[in-house]
Amino acid sequence: MGNLLTSFAPQVHAIVIGATGGLGRAFVNTLADDERVLSVLALSRVTAGLASDCVKTIAIDIEDEASIEAAARSAVDHEPTYQLVIVATGVLHAAGLSPEKSWKALSADALATAYRINTIGPALVAKHFLPLLDTKSKSVFACLSARVGSIEDNSLGGWHAYRSSKAGLNMILRTLSVELARRNPESICVGLHPGTVDTPLSKPFQTSVPSDKLFTPAYSVNRLISVINGLTSVDSGQTYAWDGQRIPF
Ligand SMILES: NC(=O)c1ccc[n+]([C@@H]2O[C@H](COP(=O)([O-])OP(=O)(O)OC[C@H]3O[C@@H](n4cnc5c(N)ncnc54)[C@H](OP(=O)(O)O)[C@@H]3O)[C@@H](O)[C@H]2O)c1
Repeated sequence: MGNLLTSFAPQVHAIVIGATGGLGRAFVNTLADDERVLSVLALSRVTAGLASDCVKTIAIDIEDEASIEAAARSAVDHEPTYQLVIVATGVLHAAGLSPEKSWKALSADALATAYRINTIGPALVAKHFLPLLDTKSKSVFACLSARVGSIEDNSLGGWHAYRSSKAGLNMILRTLSVELARRNPESICVGLHPGTVDTPLSKPFQTSVPSDKLFTPAYSVNRLISVINGLTSVDSGQTYAWDGQRIPF
């Protein structure tokens, strides 16, 4: 049994949104195995096969605000407050969306898909789930972002839709953190970069990644939970990589 959440209250209730994804599933499993975690709510479009003794499931589609709102209401039926909310949803490639190599490939539909899932979805999740954060002890709202969403770090170009959707997410998180600090000083809101992780999202782009730079979901999630454990209120609004480094905006 793990003990990764030592800076949290002794009894942690967690929510993972995007629980069927490579990283989301690893968050569910790692949190369910942590000695401080009493319950994990696993939220995803398809919930079959996710439930266990301490894992309960709720359906959610982050492209539909009514579904997000209903999921938040169901979450309150399980527990009135939560210490940890992880948003592990995201898209890099899908029907009609593949990372652009040139501005010639820019498409309004592809941009809209990336923004809807990577930026707008997490923003609306925040709208309905930030009020569920514990106000009496450390609580964290963390969204999976990506290093390529850093404007300052972008010297390679390409991947316009994905990059800009994650840059937008980082700005949303920064903006949320300002209001959150006023309303609930015990809460922290951050973006997380997991490294390059062996999941369906990265599969088509793994050939040029050296094997020691391609993480398993379990390894990445272990490192990210350690980063979350080390966060304090001064870190709110930033994006951190798996190794604890802050990613520049
Ligand atoms: N893997 C990497 O190397 C890497 C690197 C940097 C950042 N990230 C970020 O990490 C996050 C997780 O990525 P991953 O690698 O775990 O990808 P993944 O295995 O493809 O998982 C993506 C998850 O997002 C969910 N999702 C997509 N649209 C949704 C919607 N409308 N409503 C609800 N859920 C939705 C998917 O649900 P379904 O199962 O229902 O499709 C799936 O659970 C993403 O934000 C990604 O950008 C990943």
